[in-house]
Amino acid sequence: MKRTVKDIDLKGKRVLMRVDFNVPLDKSGRITDDNRIRGALETIKYILFSGGKLILMSHLGRPKGEKKLEYSLAPAAGRLSELLGKPVKMLKDCIGLEVSKDIAAMQPGEVVLLENLRFYKQEEKNDSEFAKSLASLGDIFVNDAFGTAHRAHASTEGVTHYLESVAGFLVQKEIEYFDQVLKNPQRPLIFILGGAKVADKIPVIENMLQRADTILIGGAMAYTFMKVKGCEIGASRLEPESIPIVEKILAKAEAKAVEIVLPLDHIVTNNIEAASNVAVTTGQAIGQGFIGVDIGPKTISLFCDKIAKAKTIVWNGPVGIFENDKFARGSKEIAKAIADSTATSVIGGGDTAAAVAKFSLSDKMSHISTGGGASLEYLEGKTLPGIAALTDK
Ligand code: 3PG
Repeated sequence: MKRTVKDIDLKGKRVLMRVDFNVPLDKSGRITDDNRIRGALETIKYILFSGGKLILMSHLGRPKGEKKLEYSLAPAAGRLSELLGKPVKMLKDCIGLEVSKDIAAMQPGEVVLLENLRFYKQEEKNDSEFAKSLASLGDIFVNDAFGTAHRAHASTEGVTHYLESVAGFLVQKEIEYFDQVLKNPQRPLIFILGGAKVADKIPVIENMLQRADTILIGGAMAYTFMKVKGCEIGASRLEPESIPIVEKILAKAEAKAVEIVLPLDHIVTNNIEAASNVAVTTGQAIGQGFIGVDIGPKTISLFCDKIAKAKTIVWNGPVGIFENDKFARGSKEIAKAIADSTATSVIGGGDTAAAVAKFSLSDKMSHISTGGGASLEYLEGKTLPGIAALTDK
């Protein structure tokens, strides 16, 4: 257990808080999904209510050390101000004299947002001088950026060497949910795994083989598994280099009596972009020239039956190309089955969260992680440096 904002006195203190306001923007710079900003609201309100002077910092995108206008955090300051119903001053930089002056003029209950940390290369290098400069802006450090907790950067790990460092409520909630499903799950625990590349998901499968009762596999990564099982996969995505590891995974699953469930049928097309000749296969085999793009109806009912019997569900990766409505049914039916279940459900961030949001089912899940890469690394069983660096209770 990590210490949280509740464990410290915030009154009159300069509270330097790392948030993950790395939100998607459209071409005109409008925020298209503000979940990460909403996710930090509880901690923000608590600090302001407790009389802290709140200095927020975040990255946005990957500007690689260059100050580029399109990577400014100004839209996030605007959105936060709307959500809080009070001004959020956007500072022009994240370190330097002007910033220090602005902060020195702050009153308790006020909030500012520093400009994009990644305008400095030193941020991602976890440079100690840069971390010291950031740390000098606060009396206490709060980390509520779960989405960036897998990065050992100056603003997540570096600053903890210079300031008392505690977790915000979002980080606390994310840790509690992931620990509950990974360390102490009610059984059966079903892990639904999708996404494009097997290679990206090998460590997570290895870890979940130690924990899950059943693993349902969909998405493009399923085709390499099916090939190993001797199935015809047509022109579907195959990762030849992952075949040996998939063989090992299947053998391990058998030895551990973990059930791995592969699709029974598929939605296929002969051209993904044009979505032409879309068809349902009658069985597991995919014909020549056809590409699997979603799970088929028999698979949907098999997966949904398993989901209905689960007490704990973890879902990482859509089971089809859900961005196209023609290939979205599998992911939608899975999301609906989870929404209808009474099991504790944890949804990995990134694409899976986007899929659930597209089907307007977000509020039906027990927990939707705000971390994409961070939630994947947590499910891999890794220690996240941004969390490890916080003080234990
Ligand atoms: C994310 O969106 O996963 C986090 O904000 C981290 O961003 P990064 O992958 O650019 O470090």
